[in-house]
Amino acid sequence: MKAMEIKKGVHWMGFVDWNRRLFDSLIPLPDGTSYNAFLVQGSEKTVLIDAVDPAMAGVLKHQLDTVKKIDYIISQHAEQDHSGTIPLVLEKYSESIVICTPKAKDLLVDHLGIPVERIQTVADGETLSLGDKTLRFIYTPWVHWPETMVTYLPEDRILFSCDFLGSHIAMSGLYAGEEPYVIEAAKRYYAEIMMPFRKMIQGNLKKLQELEFDLIAPSHGPIHDHPERILSAYDDWVSDKVSNLVVIPYISMHGSTEAMVDHLVAALDERGVTVQKFELSTTDIGKLAMALVDAATIVIGTPTVHVGPHPLVFSATHLANVLRPKLKYAAIIGSYGWATKAVVQISGLIPNIKAEVLGTVMCKGQPQDDTFAALDALADAIRDKHLTF
Ligand code: FEO
Repeated sequence: MKAMEIKKGVHWMGFVDWNRRLFDSLIPLPDGTSYNAFLVQGSEKTVLIDAVDPAMAGVLKHQLDTVKKIDYIISQHAEQDHSGTIPLVLEKYSESIVICTPKAKDLLVDHLGIPVERIQTVADGETLSLGDKTLRFIYTPWVHWPETMVTYLPEDRILFSCDFLGSHIAMSGLYAGEEPYVIEAAKRYYAEIMMPFRKMIQGNLKKLQELEFDLIAPSHGPIHDHPERILSAYDDWVSDKVSNLVVIPYISMHGSTEAMVDHLVAALDERGVTVQKFELSTTDIGKLAMALVDAATIVIGTPTVHVGPHPLVFSATHLANVLRPKLKYAAIIGSYGWATKAVVQISGLIPNIKAEVLGTVMCKGQPQDDTFAALDALADAIRDKHLTF
């Protein structure tokens, strides 16, 4: 792929990875991704903002063939998909210096072995003159590691944001335009990667309000040329607002839990409550994470395996706890053969989810009328709570 000019003296570099389907050996990438680096050439100094995943080192090397000098490499985030090829750039440009936050300095040394004498740290708000262009560095921690910052180029009204406001999506054009599927991909990205840091992101978004920009250039996904769209979406996602939505991750072994889930879905639907259910042996875990961005309530459905929850429920519950969604209410339903501690064990898995527990319904064997009545009562309780917002 060739470097492409965004503004005079500002070029996109990197690689659109249409075929990648898994990130961090965990996160599904149904639409691929991209690794974006940006070359900014001022009248006196030239910088590269971020690099690319080590798997794409050859592409970056080729794109830099015609670039005679790089003075600084701006490392906005030390994770390897953006920093992994910085050592190659340092080797090619022997006078170049890495610029990053103090926390990133430690990480770049630890993860990549970059010599400390090749790293210069910047303070929050510090500027760097490139001659006729200026870079301002703004600390934005936890998007998505603690060391992250964004870079503002006021002369060209561009905000370089690395992971922040990005999306895992491969596209043929450089710009997001007003395509709704870009916001959908950005929501998946937020859900899977950013959601645990929701409160910190609220603060980071406030810091961006002081800046005037026409373009947001993240290091994954297309450039936002209608920045208000992604900022507005983020405002909504990180807000404390929840929607009239119940998320039900579940699995069933012999049909009892499935029958309970189906009954509850119908009961909630009759009561005007929207439901999304996720059968955990087949579900796209990213879709489940997306549903958790806005959901008011989670109902976890599990059969009992060796007295505890099914392992897939255990895994999904752990993931939901790590993502720290803004859920307000929770319940556990399921079934068992002769004894169960599934409720106790699931409850112990979700210390980060500060939700009010609306009830548990556990059924021995096949669900009968008393179980369905208990599920109806649970649906009533959920509806009553949802009517309050
Ligand atoms: Fe795209 Fe947190 O790395």
